[in-house]
Amino acid sequence: MTGIDYSQKIPNNVDLASDKRLQRALERWQPDYINWWRDMGPSDFNENDVYLRTAVSVERDGWAHFDYVKMPDYRWGIFLTPHEGERQIGFGDHFGETAWQQVPGEYRNWLRRLIVTQADTEPASVEQQRLLGLTAPSLYDLRNLFQVNVEEGRHLWAMVYLLHSYFGKDGREEADELLQRRSGNADQPRILTTFNEPCEDWLSFFCFTMFTDRDGKYQLLSLAESGFDPLARSCRFMLTEEAHHMFVGQTGIARVVRRTCEVMNEHPDACPSEHGAIPLEMIQRYINFWAASSLDLFGAEVSSNSANFFAAGLKGRAYEDKYEDHLVKDDCYELERWDGERITREQVPLRNAMNEVLRDGYVDENLKGVEYWNRECEKAGIPFRFAYPHRRFNRTIGEFAGARFDPQGNAVSEADWQAGQRVWLPTPEDKAYVKSLMRPVTEPGKFAGWIAPPLRGINSQAADFEYVKL
Ligand SMILES: [Fe+2]
Ligand SMILES: [Fe+2]
Repeated sequence: MTGIDYSQKIPNNVDLASDKRLQRALERWQPDYINWWRDMGPSDFNENDVYLRTAVSVERDGWAHFDYVKMPDYRWGIFLTPHEGERQIGFGDHFGETAWQQVPGEYRNWLRRLIVTQADTEPASVEQQRLLGLTAPSLYDLRNLFQVNVEEGRHLWAMVYLLHSYFGKDGREEADELLQRRSGNADQPRILTTFNEPCEDWLSFFCFTMFTDRDGKYQLLSLAESGFDPLARSCRFMLTEEAHHMFVGQTGIARVVRRTCEVMNEHPDACPSEHGAIPLEMIQRYINFWAASSLDLFGAEVSSNSANFFAAGLKGRAYEDKYEDHLVKDDCYELERWDGERITREQVPLRNAMNEVLRDGYVDENLKGVEYWNRECEKAGIPFRFAYPHRRFNRTIGEFAGARFDPQGNAVSEADWQAGQRVWLPTPEDKAYVKSLMRPVTEPGKFAGWIAPPLRGINSQAADFEYVKL
């Protein structure tokens, strides 16, 4: 059952046709989804042919098929990584038991909440990015934006399938509400703060896909371990799509850096902004903002929810296999506490620190990404180094919420914080400058002056390939 049936109204590899009630319910949700896409998805480009990849098989290789598609005709569907025989629960109090094919009654509310929280981020990011198509720096970038958008739409489908299939009436209501909340709307906001932040320029978009989509990756990794098997298999397939989103962010920033370094070498005595490039310090401020905001998405350092989710076998650690002990009943984790004046260290039960464990892996991966950008500077002979902000910096959730720390993690006074913000976070002038650069470039093979071309095309296409037919 690994092939995807595209003859169906809703493409799927879950034999949807055999469950008429479920099929009908999802087919009723489908037009609401398309209406949401037309209202809140990418503005203006719904009639254009876009060179997109679509899943044709969920097998490890060859799942992607590239062709021109109009976005509203994209075949959003339901794809799960196939059963690998009988799976066992890999962690927590149910370790070694057979994975659940149905929702265990006692965990129903927790599971629904986990799924809804993940689901809500998917349409939220599409909403945040809806106007970016109007200012894309190239057709290559425009296509990548739309690829990310349609796949976030598909991730919403993946979660809505779970809500419809396994949570009855309240699942269907949650699915409807996912199309009603709106990013940044004061009355009906999206659930998590980062997903209500405006993302109005391409530097923000690249930071978002680097840091915020990577949070998504880590949440999916932990849910891919879930004892609730349909959730685990949904998340596994989502992870294959997610990789491209982070590629867009990682290489997007690298290309901005490369272009700035070129300009700095051409005009060593001028500020890069005099020649239409984005100063490296300004890029660092954008990084600081999105990196800190995305760290919040993991939740509080010490969390009884995270302990409950782990104990229940609902949400594990990323790559749970690599650990020896999957029960972690007696282990402790040492973390930092802030009493308003001093940092102290404290041992907490490891199960209560699962958010922090997940965040650790995430931070390590980001550090590698920052080094990748530093190599761009090195190659150009520019002695600038980007830094990932300390995890105490500019946090609004958890131990350090609202406290004042600089990007190196030192506590600072309120006055120093106020003064430092201009150096550490995007200023109104930065935003105005970056915005002034956001003019669309639509000629195939051409790029805006603030960003270098990519090293290679999508699906090995030539440099002047027409990724979007305007
Ligand atoms: Fe996603
Ligand atoms: Fe994503």
